[in-house]
This record gives sequence, structure tokens and C-alpha cells, in this order.
Amino acid sequence: MGITIADAEQMLQQVTEEVVRWRRHLHQNPELSFQEQQTSQFVYETLRSFGELELSRPTPTSVVARLIGRQPGPVLAIRADMDALPITEENDLEFASTNPGVMHACGHDGHTAMLLGVAKVLSGLKDKLRGEVRFLFQHAEELFPGGAQELVKAGVMDGVDCVIGIHLWSPLQVGRIQVRAGAFMAAPDVFYITIKGKGGHAAQPHLTVDSIAIAAQVVTNLQHVVSRNVDPLDPVVLSVTQFHSGTAHNVIPESVEMVGTVRSFKPELRDEVPEKMERIVKGITEAHGASYEFRYEHGYRPVINDEQLTGRVRAALVETFGPDVVVEGDPTMGGEDFSAYQQLVPGTFFYVGAGNAEKGIIYPHHHPRFNVDEDALPIGVRAFVSVALHLLG
Ligand code: NI
Repeated sequence: MGITIADAEQMLQQVTEEVVRWRRHLHQNPELSFQEQQTSQFVYETLRSFGELELSRPTPTSVVARLIGRQPGPVLAIRADMDALPITEENDLEFASTNPGVMHACGHDGHTAMLLGVAKVLSGLKDKLRGEVRFLFQHAEELFPGGAQELVKAGVMDGVDCVIGIHLWSPLQVGRIQVRAGAFMAAPDVFYITIKGKGGHAAQPHLTVDSIAIAAQVVTNLQHVVSRNVDPLDPVVLSVTQFHSGTAHNVIPESVEMVGTVRSFKPELRDEVPEKMERIVKGITEAHGASYEFRYEHGYRPVINDEQLTGRVRAALVETFGPDVVVEGDPTMGGEDFSAYQQLVPGTFFYVGAGNAEKGIIYPHHHPRFNVDEDALPIGVRAFVSVALHLLG
């Protein structure tokens, strides 16, 4: 006989207040990617207080906790990210950031608090538990190359059968959960382009090679890659997001530096798109007597949710919350290093709604006024617990 969500009901209700308190503590004390010293120490101490977990610190600012049941069974990994962003908080909250210039503006404070809650609830069910739940408190999701890849290299996935993760999602109304099989989040790649012309006096353009005029054509023509060269049924984003040049109104600058991002899902596009981009950059610069440097870096891999596992997760969530709560997710062009775990075992990543217009919780992720509706926290805990009990049979 397996255990069900009903066995966890009392503990789920008891833990809610603590999860909110943990989230507020983390929100007040945010730390940047790869610098989560106090955060990871707080997580470690809190997990230790539950008494049932095998704890380790695979990297300086991450924590892994293993809850090993009495009977053999599958190994489920659950991941929460813990890092904050270099943003100055503009929320007027009593638990607003006390670390100047750093803010939990993506909800990772909530992810960490929820997973602590799940660890506490499942610790209370250890005697009845089959298999293992492995809690991955991951550092540095926001900063490439990301913490997930480091944890994988450190061996945290050894013996794991499947992996799940949640993102609290402010565009989604609190009380809803979005699940999707297949392509869910894009691969976020980065490119760097330098256009080198010949500087000179702005009154004598004929004696120069105007890097700004040429670079402007490059920006315009790069838009043809997505609109004219890629199958319209394959989503791709190409954005030039930085354009730096010049020092004075009467100087034609020697060079222009550009940076941008490409987002896509299909592996072949991650090779094709940079080839097409470079062809455009080369053609335009050559036509105008300039030269260029082009560098393209692959970021995180896309989050592709396993069909079968997603089906099982969906079934567990529908059983717990009902079919009106659990809705089909829309893919986004945002990136997530959760994909690193999905290279090894079937995984699924889903969204728990955290927006609420009535409470003024309307700002997008990474905004200085971003917030989550704390009513989402017990939903996330319940979602993880119900899925864990379902998957461990
Ligand atoms: Ni995030």
C-alpha cells in the first residue's frame, strides 16, 4: 500500500506558516548567483532541523538532501533554485531586500521555501516512504554557465530516475498550474559582434569607413534571419540588446560593439542561425569596406519535458487539485538551466501561478516591483508532495 496525499494533509497545513516565514527571510536576504553563502547555510540548518535527511554540500553554495525511505523504490529528484538578481527592489514590503542592489525578482526565494516545506512534510512520512526523494537546492540559475551543470558534474544525479521542478509564475493567476509535455522553455544563446570601420572627422565621411552606418544595416538585416530564413512554424527570437559606439558629435567612431540573444528550441537551429547571421555580417561589412568579429555562445539547453513523466505528473496534479486548476502550459522563449538535469533522466518542469491583479501582483519576472502571491506557496508545496507520492508509488 502506497501513501497518498491524505496522509500528508495535517502536515501540509502545519507547514504553510513556516514556508511563508522562510520565504520572507530569504526575500529579505537575497544573494547573487554563485554567492549564495548565507542562503545555503540557512537551507542547510533548516534541513538539518528536520532530523531525517542525509545532507551534503556538493559545491560551496548548494545543498543536497536525501530522504531515503524504508523500502526500496525509485529515486526522484526535486530541484529549487536559490539565487537573486542584480536589481534594486522598489517594493514597499516589510520584508523587502536589505541587501542593496540585490533582489529576489524571479521568485527563487519562494522555490527554496517551498522545497524546504516539501522536505519537512516528506520527512514526516519517512517510515512509509518507498525509494528516495533527493532535494536539490541549486545555486546560480540566473548566471551562465549556471549551477545545474555544476551539480550534475558533482554527481548529484547519480542513481536518480526522474527529476521535477517548479517555477512560480507571475503571468499566471494564483490558483492555476500549467503543465506541458515537450518543448517548454527555449535555449538562450548569446552573440557578440564587433564592426570595425575607420574613424575620422564627422565632416569628412568620405575619408572614413562609418562603423555606425554599417552596424545599423547589420541590425536591420539580422531581422531577416527569423522573418525570411527560418521556418515560421519554428519559434526563434533574435534580439540585438546592446549597441555601443562613439564618443563625440563630430567624430565618426572606429568601431561598434553589439551584443544580443537568440532563443530557439531545435538543436539544428542553434547551428544554422549563427551561420546565417555571420553570412549577413560578413556580406554587409565587406560591401562597405569594413571588417568584423563574430562570436556565438551556446547557453542553456532548451527545457523539453518528457512526455510520459509529464503525463504522470499531470495525472497526480489533476487528482489533487482537479481539472480546472491544472491547465495546458504555453511554451516561452525564456531559458532555464533545469534542462541540464533533463539531459540525464526524464524530467518535467511546470509553472505554479503566482500573479494576482487584485493584490497588485502584476509585475513581470526580473522587474524591480516583482512579487509573488504567497497563496501560491502552499499550492507549490502540495503540488510537489502529491507528485512525489504518486511517482514513488
Ligand atoms: Ni527564475
